[in-house]
Amino acid sequence: MDHFGYRAGELICEDVAVAAIAEREGTPAYVYSTQTFVDHFDRLRAAFAELNPIICYSIKSCHNLHILRLMRSLGASFDVVSGGELVRALEVGADASRIVFAGVGKTDDEIRMALGARVGWFNVESEQELERIDQLCELSNASTGAALRVNPDVDPHTHRYTTTGKRETKFGVDVDRARRVFREFGRDRRVRLTGIHLHIGSPVNRVEPYVEAVTRALQLVESLRVDGLTIDTLNIGGGFGAHYEGAEAPAAQAYAEAVIPVLRARGLQLILEPGRSISANAGILLARTIFTKRGGDKTFVIVDAAMTELIRPALYEAYHFAWPVKPANGMVPPHRGRDLKLDGTSLVDVVGPVCESADLLAPNRWLPPIQRGDLLAIFSTGAYGSVMGSRYNSRPLAPEILVDGGDYRVIRPRESYDQMLAAERS
Ligand code: LLP
Repeated sequence: MDHFGYRAGELICEDVAVAAIAEREGTPAYVYSTQTFVDHFDRLRAAFAELNPIICYSIKSCHNLHILRLMRSLGASFDVVSGGELVRALEVGADASRIVFAGVGKTDDEIRMALGARVGWFNVESEQELERIDQLCELSNASTGAALRVNPDVDPHTHRYTTTGKRETKFGVDVDRARRVFREFGRDRRVRLTGIHLHIGSPVNRVEPYVEAVTRALQLVESLRVDGLTIDTLNIGGGFGAHYEGAEAPAAQAYAEAVIPVLRARGLQLILEPGRSISANAGILLARTIFTKRGGDKTFVIVDAAMTELIRPALYEAYHFAWPVKPANGMVPPHRGRDLKLDGTSLVDVVGPVCESADLLAPNRWLPPIQRGDLLAIFSTGAYGSVMGSRYNSRPLAPEILVDGGDYRVIRPRESYDQMLAAERS
């Protein structure tokens, strides 16, 4: 699952004691495990090897340049959704011809940037966008590959805020409209519309929605081919699960075994856009207890990390396992599930110091005794943790630290107050 675990009663990342990192680098801090990134990427690649997919790591899930460089060294390409993410991919020397550029609202500047960089595919989400990319190609005498994002109308059974493949969403177009779009734009354009892009939501902890989505996409591919159109690429998006609670996500192998038989020998280049399945379990958020207090019948553990470092609980009521780095009485957690309730634990809410009631990191948890000063780890925060961080309440951005074996490096230092104010001091 990952390379975070308890050894001799304390939390270790690979071969480094997490408490030692906190002593030197302070808290709050994100700590990542190199080997976990590597394992997850390798497993996905091995699982889908028969179809030789282009694996476009979804930059939005964890975008630090050091992580991107690591992904590139493993053979990943990139899924970008903004000019900023494109700049990041190019900065680490990505092969632009294997980059996919998604997003419902690409601006002219972003389209020009991507054309200039010669990205492989625009994942196009509307007729107006296609029209505009075609015009901008015309103006700069350029051309590009493109895939149309199609909503196959399947239910991924995930949070409504992260469900995207239903018929009516702001993303992509429905299947009926897709046919019309291909007829209008599928020939003789500077935008070579020869691909279909799917992304049904995330996390999707079942394989069936993928099979259903791919099956519907293939029906569309066949009917378009009958019309004489060329369709050579199928991008099935990301959304593969991660282990937030234990072992709830299907293995890469399980997704592959379900999808490969449907896709085999279809004459389609497969593209994948995994984010969290690679990055979520590769990171923890490290926090120190500032105070504990009682409020009515509740006990609050107030830590120095907050919704500014991890907004997922506030935004999606997402569950992240939390546990002391050196638990009292050697109470090492046997698993990371919601129902963990060991003898000697008590019910607490782990909260941040930000002035919002939604600033809950781990509400209603049975935790070992926690004192002021104790370190806590919030698990599975490698995806959509630091990237969704903010400076709300004028909290400087927390550092990112990458462990590799017995060593670690600070891959983004803690922001100082001076750095935080610099752009406004004119
Ligand atoms: N491809 C597309 C088109 C996407 O929109 C996304 C995520 C991905 C790939 C990668 O999905 P992943 O494999 O990481 O699940 N901030 C939220 C999730 C929003 C995801 C947005 N799109 C979270 O914290 O769960």
